[in-house]
Amino acid sequence: MDEIRIAVVGLGTRSLNWIAVMQRTGGFRVVALCDPVAALHERARTRLERPGEVRVHTRYEEALADPNVDAIALTVRCEEQGALAALALEAGKHVHMEVPGAHRMEDCWRIVAAQERSGKVFQLAEQVRHAGFVEAWRRLVAEGRLGRITYGEGQYFHYYVEKSFQDPATGRFYGPEQIAAHPEAQPTWMCHMPPIHYLPHDLGPMLRILDDRVVEVMAMSTGSPSAAHPELASPDVQVALMKTGKDAILRMAASFAQPHPHVNNHWLHLLGTKGSVEWRRSNRDAPKLWLSDGQMHDKSDMEWRFERTDAPPEARGSGHSDMDYYVHAAFRDAVLGIRPLEYDVYKAMDTTAPAILAAESIAQDGAKLRVPSFRPDATRPPGQMPKSI
Ligand SMILES: NC(=O)c1ccc[n+]([C@@H]2O[C@H](COP(=O)([O-])OP(=O)(O)OC[C@H]3O[C@@H](n4cnc5c(N)ncnc54)[C@H](O)[C@@H]3O)[C@@H](O)[C@H]2O)c1
Repeated sequence: MDEIRIAVVGLGTRSLNWIAVMQRTGGFRVVALCDPVAALHERARTRLERPGEVRVHTRYEEALADPNVDAIALTVRCEEQGALAALALEAGKHVHMEVPGAHRMEDCWRIVAAQERSGKVFQLAEQVRHAGFVEAWRRLVAEGRLGRITYGEGQYFHYYVEKSFQDPATGRFYGPEQIAAHPEAQPTWMCHMPPIHYLPHDLGPMLRILDDRVVEVMAMSTGSPSAAHPELASPDVQVALMKTGKDAILRMAASFAQPHPHVNNHWLHLLGTKGSVEWRRSNRDAPKLWLSDGQMHDKSDMEWRFERTDAPPEARGSGHSDMDYYVHAAFRDAVLGIRPLEYDVYKAMDTTAPAILAAESIAQDGAKLRVPSFRPDATRPPGQMPKSI
């Protein structure tokens, strides 16, 4: 195989970027499109290099049943997105999916078991793990320059309320301030989603830097509905405390419903026994480094960016500071057997499950919950579901 025949499922705005970047990256042929909202089909079809050859579906089962589809690109936004990924693996398709990977623990396990049984590639397309500063921090940690990491912070604060309601006939979205004028629009998953479920977007880079996994989690939430927009059931802020296998404490937080500048959605900070690194607080700020053995009287400004200094020309302009390219290249290379996936299904679930369990902790009044390892062991042979979830 030298080309992946891929079906793009979920034809919102993100799918349009995926179609463009996959076509530009090479090695992909979009052969099918799918979205239950038929009004969205044509916009996606017009973005294709070969629109005449594509099959268009409203039902997901039709895309899964197509023997000419090798892989499913899942750019949906719904509570069932983990189950949709598992169904695709169970149907013998490779899966290339947007963050977050799942919203239920059972779906995490279904994805792992189905990937193991099928041997197909599963990739959670979290792109910030490919950022330039993430690579720089990963090396500092691996070389021991920061000592042993004892504390980390990460957050995703993105004021994103405009997709809280959707007209099922036209696919048009409305924000909380527009909903009174559009009674035909229904609440979307964004209106209800526990914001902490989005943590794979920052826990992914964090765990890549630390080469670690979360073993325990407890969390707190502000109330529902949102204080900023009472039309939204989703709380304004949720914060999780996590313990890692290497004995670091992480504070991870997420927020969508309350205003935040439309820059710097991601923020990370690491503190070690020999130094610290910190992402910038605003666009006029700079990332910081401090080394205890470096004769440094204060933290120093650094020229780290999301963009990588070693980005190939194909990456430039792909989206999200060039990072979008890397997830498509990694998926293509894994499916075509060029290089194995670094962010495998186990690492992907290491970033997904703690977020789901953080919301579960909130539901259990802050209870401390254990995060399972998804790797096979004596109690769970590959391909099987665990005895209890
Ligand atoms: N990595 C990133 O930086 C990044 C950026 C933006 C969005 N995202 C992710 O991308 C995904 C899509 O985002 P978006 O903004 O395009 O969302 P969107 O809501 O605009 O579009 C999602 C589409 O999925 C469709 N859908 C829902 N359930 C479906 C199902 N069962 N089968 C087929 N289609 C279904 C909806 O009808 C909708 O058209 C989300 O998961 C989001 O979290 C990631």
